[in-house]
Amino acid sequence: MTEKSPSERPGPFAALEGLAYGGDYNPEQWPQEVRLEDLGLMREAGVTFLSVGIFSWALLEPTEGEYDFGWLDEVLDNLAAQGIKVALATATAAPPAWLTHKHPEILPVTAEGTTLGPGSRRHYSPSSAVYRRYSAGITRTLALRYRNHPALAMWHVDNELGCHVAQFHGPEDAQAFRDWLEQRYGSIAALNASWGTAFWSQNYSSFNEVLPPGIAPSTLNPGQQLDFQRFNSWALIEYYRNLRAILREITPNIPATTNLMVSSATKDMDYFDWAKDLDVIANDHYLVAADPERHIELAFSADLTRGVAGGAPWILMEHSTSAVNWQPHNRAKAPGEMLRNSLSHLARGADAIMFFQWRQSFAGSEKFHSAMVPHAGRDSKVWREVVELGEILKKLAPVRGSRVTSRAALVFDYEAWWASEIDSKPSQAVRYLDLLRAFHREFFLRGISVDLVHPSADLDAYDLVLVCTLYTVTNEAAASIGAAAHRGASVLVTYFSGIVDQQDHVRLGGYPGAFRELLGIRVEEFHPLLAEQVTAISDGSTGTVWSEHVHLNGAEAIATFTEYPLVGVPSLTRKSAGSGSAWYLATFPDPESLGDLLETLLAEAGISAEASADTGVELSRRNAPDGSSFLFAINHSDADATVGATGTELITGQVFTGTVPAGKVAVIQES
Ligand code: GAL
Repeated sequence: MTEKSPSERPGPFAALEGLAYGGDYNPEQWPQEVRLEDLGLMREAGVTFLSVGIFSWALLEPTEGEYDFGWLDEVLDNLAAQGIKVALATATAAPPAWLTHKHPEILPVTAEGTTLGPGSRRHYSPSSAVYRRYSAGITRTLALRYRNHPALAMWHVDNELGCHVAQFHGPEDAQAFRDWLEQRYGSIAALNASWGTAFWSQNYSSFNEVLPPGIAPSTLNPGQQLDFQRFNSWALIEYYRNLRAILREITPNIPATTNLMVSSATKDMDYFDWAKDLDVIANDHYLVAADPERHIELAFSADLTRGVAGGAPWILMEHSTSAVNWQPHNRAKAPGEMLRNSLSHLARGADAIMFFQWRQSFAGSEKFHSAMVPHAGRDSKVWREVVELGEILKKLAPVRGSRVTSRAALVFDYEAWWASEIDSKPSQAVRYLDLLRAFHREFFLRGISVDLVHPSADLDAYDLVLVCTLYTVTNEAAASIGAAAHRGASVLVTYFSGIVDQQDHVRLGGYPGAFRELLGIRVEEFHPLLAEQVTAISDGSTGTVWSEHVHLNGAEAIATFTEYPLVGVPSLTRKSAGSGSAWYLATFPDPESLGDLLETLLAEAGISAEASADTGVELSRRNAPDGSSFLFAINHSDADATVGATGTELITGQVFTGTVPAGKVAVIQES
């Protein structure tokens, strides 16, 4: 069969009705009577979509070439009979024991040279030729067997690629790295030039001499480190592509995806790059219990997921009904919190809400991880909320397919994240996400939607563009950011942006080389602040983390440093650029001043809140192609809150009264 072009294939949600609802389903952990009971419970909860078979290889193929599909046939038939659709997994996320016994060379190896053994999961290297062959085998077998099964709606390739281990240092990985480098550079001379190997006698005479960055006496070549990061991200998605090609060949109309881990904690994979190969973006998100602002981190992750999805609706493939089991202290969610979390993902663009997992395990490492059916059974907060969420999602079906539209953009780049945090920088206190998240938080608190976009994204739709710590940037992206300002947007660039090119080579002549002209400034020298050091600014604000010697070159100083040795040196500048403006921020302002700065920029860009609302209310709007719109108002506070919107509140089905009760959510179809 020849592969169909994307436009010929049905959309990823085509087989699903309304807003899909469900979770990971691991029936292999349970006897048949429980599996039959599950069907009734799924009906009660309104489940419509399940990921099945993620860790079931050892049961599907108990010994090499001997299959046992009986239980899976029965499960899928029963699910199909009650109209439940399935994302069928390739079962490749945990190789069976017979395979690792026969081929221990598939196991991953760390930088220290330690081989990670079996007995857990994800114990394979994506570049292992043997593992590629075996995983292709089970994937093909599953695809051929279930290609026409009525429950099959999607393929769930492997699981959380890059989870637990994202960097691979074994002999086959080293060879794959060399092959990848040869492809990228063409000649060893080009690699030497790019990595700057004239430094410390690191010159290579052939690709055969190149190794993955290992354990060395001092800091490793930054070009080597950055390329190894790129290579590993590529190796993982390349492994996915191999399996996806088999699935496309056998089931050209069934969409394929893999569940990502987009969040403020996942750095290793360039998900913007990966997105090109996924038919739909599916994400897993877990709250960090110790973070008092975890609902804001959730919003950041959901907005980033939407960015990775290019604005299209996405699937929340996993989150938790209550506690997880893998943090130091696993906090149970408060009453109503799971509903707020779910609807916050929905508000920010998800069209499917799913959990890990359907039924809480009684054995194994994850038995104390919450699920839709908890150990306590039906008489529980968790089950009541699971049923309630199922009912709510039915009522919110009209939201499906609508999109969040933002007038503000925060530029986000995994490459800049990687490159800026490689060792030997002016300050280890410069962490890529810190300023991005601080600005995102201010948007969140103001009820203003912001898109997280890749530097290569089309910026035409945005009136405000924030470029934070974009240490590495291509000429094209820098030009596009400049063009946004000239077209009329307000653009803010912060310190440690535009410093190097894609090879991590400094753009000479004064920082920030890529943005000097746009901003009308030139930075002579960095003056990073010491830990705990706070510097005073002329407008009464303070800065931490960073200061630097900025010279004006066409821009005006809006504020200046007031402390030796930078007295009178600009800390914030502005320059008119075409019909817009280009601002530069040379320190990390205290939270209040950061908020004030954002206010100034929003006012200049003419952007205001999605609606008026009391403090503690999260707002997000989704717009449908027919012109209708849905305002989500999520009250995270313990007091009833007022929200200035009119229309029908879809959860109650009543005219919206203007009040969102404490801890509750209103979804207003606006009139
Ligand atoms: C995810 C994983 C699931 C489950 C879950 C627990 O990383 O995909 O299989 O382990 O975490 O939170």
